[in-house]
Amino acid sequence: MTNYFKLDPGLIYVNHAAVAPWPLRTVEAVKNFADENGAVGSRHYEQWIKLEQTLKNNLATLINAASSDEIALLKNTSEGLSIIAKGIEWQAGDNIVISNQEFPSNYIVWEALQREGVELRIADLLSTETPEQAIIEKMDSNTRLLSISAVQYASGLKMDLHTLGDACKANQSLFCVDAIQQIGATQFDVQAIDADFVVADGHKWMLGPEGLALFYCKQSSMEQLKLQQFGWHMVEDLSDFSNMHNWQPAHSARRFECGSPNTLTTHALQASISLLLELGMESVEAAVKDNVQSLISLFESLKDVTVLSPTERDRHAGIFTFSKKGIDNQQLYQYLVEKGVVCAARGGGIRFSPHFYNQASEFEQLAKWVDQFNLSA
Ligand SMILES: Cc1ncc(COP(=O)(O)O)c(C=O)c1O
Repeated sequence: MTNYFKLDPGLIYVNHAAVAPWPLRTVEAVKNFADENGAVGSRHYEQWIKLEQTLKNNLATLINAASSDEIALLKNTSEGLSIIAKGIEWQAGDNIVISNQEFPSNYIVWEALQREGVELRIADLLSTETPEQAIIEKMDSNTRLLSISAVQYASGLKMDLHTLGDACKANQSLFCVDAIQQIGATQFDVQAIDADFVVADGHKWMLGPEGLALFYCKQSSMEQLKLQQFGWHMVEDLSDFSNMHNWQPAHSARRFECGSPNTLTTHALQASISLLLELGMESVEAAVKDNVQSLISLFESLKDVTVLSPTERDRHAGIFTFSKKGIDNQQLYQYLVEKGVVCAARGGGIRFSPHFYNQASEFEQLAKWVDQFNLSA
């Protein structure tokens, strides 16, 4: 599994919940694209557009969308959430439900709507027997939208999206999922959860570059979003430049892509996604979960260490967060960084987020360093 990457040998890279390293084939794709641009510019532009379509097809496969027409390529997750927030025609009295563990992007965007008379309800995920129950208890007949992270960025808690999708359907609420911490790490099925909108940037578990995000919009929910951005690329017939006065938005999610595509990042993400699809998301998921389970058993046996992430296999994806008692966790983080560990300080502790290719020996080394830190502090 390791030969898909060529990381510096001195590093232990467990930071895919932040920004992933690129697989070798992605590095190659970007180099080749640069060479091509230098040599012949956009002479083969039609090929680029074909590749973009391949990427959309592959993303549709990755999330089991009914059609690639339901996929748009945007800049990032926050842009997708903003398109949804600004696109819905809110009515006075509407409310939105989110959780108290969200990354700022899935809070700020909804909080900004309060100025328009929309109520924001925040469920405390630890207040009830299951996190889903806490959310469902906040929903009522005025709940227009539920927006939730599939996997919480700090704790790593993986939500039961089937239960939440069912609740939205029963309540006739729109269902929006920030899936940046799940897609590419574990299997994801938009149809099974009946999501209206799913957003996920490619630079984490999908192993792509920053600046290109997957935006899924269910075909039957497309008209729910008033268009916010305008340009030549979002019209139904984008090759007809003479039809400026009588244009229609694309029937597909391309209506959310207003101008020229980001062809560089498209080449990169296509290469990364091709790797995940070749490996198969079932085996990627098994490896990601096994890795987190290994970390859990190693760290649970360490003195003074508290595992902050859920330990049940179906309640986590690739995020493992822990803290250590009696020491400054920020100093421990710095110590690990100096050892060559690429990780993050999150959720009141330290977050490791290994992908499928990380090795058991790396986890043993991490556990040793964390255990030793007492001595050297
Ligand atoms: C749950 C979640 N949503 C969104 C983001 C960031 O989104 P963007 O793609 O807008 O940078 C992060 C980044 O850490 C995240 O963890």
